[in-house]
Parts: sequence; C-alpha cells; structure tokens
Amino acid sequence: MIIIIIIIIIIIIVVVVVVVISIIVVIVIIIIINLINELTIDCLFWLIISGGNSGIGKAAALELAKRGARVIIGCRNKVKAEAAVTLIRRRTGSDAVHYLPLDLASLESVKQFVDMFIKQYGPAYALVNNAGIQ
Ligand SMILES: NC(=O)c1ccc[n+]([C@@H]2O[C@H](COP(=O)([O-])OP(=O)(O)OC[C@H]3O[C@@H](n4cnc5c(N)ncnc54)[C@H](OP(=O)(O)O)[C@@H]3O)[C@@H](O)[C@H]2O)c1
Repeated sequence: MIIIIIIIIIIIIVVVVVVVISIIVVIVIIIIINLINELTIDCLFWLIISGGNSGIGKAAALELAKRGARVIIGCRNKVKAEAAVTLIRRRTGSDAVHYLPLDLASLESVKQFVDMFIKQYGPAYALVNNAGIQ
C-alpha cells in the first residue's frame, strides 16, 4: 500500500515538474518572439533591396523601414517603384525610403546602379538579393 502511495506521489511530482517546465519554455519563447519583433535597425548606411516594388521585396522594404532602416529599392519600373516608395513612406512615416533604377538583366544597368548608389549614399549597410531573373 505504502509503495503504491509513493509511486502515485512520484507520478504527481513528475507531472507537476513537466507542466512547470513546459510553462517556462512557452514563456521564454513568447519573450524571445517579442524581443525579435521589437528589434530596430539603427544604422546611418542605406540598405539595398533588389526588386522592392512588389511581392516579398516590397514586404521586406516595408518591415525594414518600419524598424528604422534606410531603404533603397532597386527597380526596373519607375512607375511601380515610385508607387511602392510612396506607400512604404506613408505606412512607416519614414522618408528614408528611396528608389534607384536597376534592371538585373542588364550588367550595364547594374553598374550604373552601383555608381549612383555609391555616389549618393556611400557604403551599403546590407543587400537583400530579392529579385530573381528568369
Ligand atoms: N513567392 C514565393 O513563394 C517564393 C518562393 C521561393 C523563392 N522566391 C523568390 O523570392 C523572390 C521574390 O519573389 P516574389 O514572390 O516577391 O516575386 P514577385 O512578386 O514576382 O516580385 C519580383 C520582384 O523582382 C523584380 N524583378 C524581376 N526581374 C527584375 C529585373 N530584371 N530587374 C529588377 N527587378 C526585377 C520585379 O519587378 P517588376 O515589378 O518590374 O517585375 C518584382 O519587384 C524571387 O527571386 C523568387 O524567385 C519566392
């Protein structure tokens, strides 16, 4: 009888420990996710996103600008690029979102983009190689 009681007590202790550990793990995960969501980018240099006028590139530009990054979107279509810049600026309240012409299918355009970027913005903070050419 005593042995059965001891086994039941041990089982209860194990269950309680597992539940407590699970709760702690969930709390730590929630804290880490919140910390990641609150990460900000505090850098004077500009970040380049290729093809940031639509899709994943535009979403990335929006999120990075929201976090304080200075963003250049490199796009081949001026009208779409300017529309994206306007929208990102409006949604983030940041003026540090610019567009430079870039057609990745043309090496000449890539060279011109690099020249313009270095001349106007200096060193790059980061490059998001988003646009893929088919
Ligand atoms: N969506 C997915 O599920 C998925 C999955 C795996 C990988 N990817 C990759 O992630 C990247 C973005 O995907 P997405 O779904 O956001 O594509 P998307 O909506 O088609 O956007 C592609 C972007 O790249 C630009 N682009 C295409 N060719 C270009 C060129 N020659 N020069 C400059 N910009 C150019 C487009 O500009 P225009 O508006 O002028 O065309 C557009 O802004 C692509 O490389 C894709 O292969 C996507």
